[in-house]
Amino acid sequence: MMSTVAENASLRRNYLPVPLLTLCLTGTLPVDIYLGQEKNSAPVLFRRKHIDIAGSELATLRESGIETVYVSLDQADDYQQHLQSNVSSIISNADLPLAYRLQFLSDTGRSMLRESFRADQVDGMIQQIGELSSFISSLMSKNEVVVSELFEVLRHDYQTYTHVYNVATYSLLLAKGLGVTDEKELQSISMGGLLHDLGKLRIPLHILNKKERLTDIEWSIIQRHPTDGFIELAVREDISEAQLMMVYQHHEKLDGSGYPVGIGANEIHFYAKVCAVADVFEALTGNRPYRNPVTKAEALETLEGLAPHKLDQEMVQCWIALTNR
Ligand SMILES: [Fe+2]
Ligand SMILES: [Fe+2]
Repeated sequence: MMSTVAENASLRRNYLPVPLLTLCLTGTLPVDIYLGQEKNSAPVLFRRKHIDIAGSELATLRESGIETVYVSLDQADDYQQHLQSNVSSIISNADLPLAYRLQFLSDTGRSMLRESFRADQVDGMIQQIGELSSFISSLMSKNEVVVSELFEVLRHDYQTYTHVYNVATYSLLLAKGLGVTDEKELQSISMGGLLHDLGKLRIPLHILNKKERLTDIEWSIIQRHPTDGFIELAVREDISEAQLMMVYQHHEKLDGSGYPVGIGANEIHFYAKVCAVADVFEALTGNRPYRNPVTKAEALETLEGLAPHKLDQEMVQCWIALTNR
């Protein structure tokens, strides 16, 4: 019996789109690969799992304009695991365009974060986050990553894991722009960026995603997240004080009008000031349930308006210079 267009479209939702480029880099795959063919038809099986796909076959697919293949959703976890174990070889492969590697790391990183947040076990989460931050810093610190290029490949939805991935990446690049060169320090900053909103995982989703104006009580619950994250991490020996300050102080403002404490410029840690600039920029350019994103130019204008009273002037100017390069 012939399927209708609607049936085919819904069948297609059972598949995860995968960039064709990843297939030639990751060896034999532990998942079945499907081809999408036409827009409204269900993907068809191309190769069963564990069977080689020859380079010439991939070239033929590419030549016919195929950039995306599909994995069935019930094998998506196996695919993600396979990718994670291949991340370092992919991001260090200089034959691949940098934009592709940035995109690849962003997609893989977001799925790593989603899974580790979902598991809600701090030990496993810190291990995953440590691994991810070393991927981020090895890609960003060895390459001349241009912020505007990076901006194009990042997603801008309102998921927490998207936000923290982007903030971590921006924080690292801003710190680098400000003259931080030590790789360990850059990795530490990107890890702090991945952790900065950890306390938000304790905020009920109906408050986090609320479209209407927040009540005073809801706002006070939102404002608890730096302290909650700090408490969660302060007992750990594998988190540095500077990273902790990124978590605890990223909503503090230089003029003392921030939260949770309201401390002033001299008391806010360098890492936290960097994170604050990255955080505001990401929050403005990302989609939120309660408003649409603004353009990059508008976001930079807002940042400029927040310095020097709320945000550090030198950092904002540095970010503007990096972003417009
Ligand atoms: Fe925050
Ligand atoms: Fe944030």
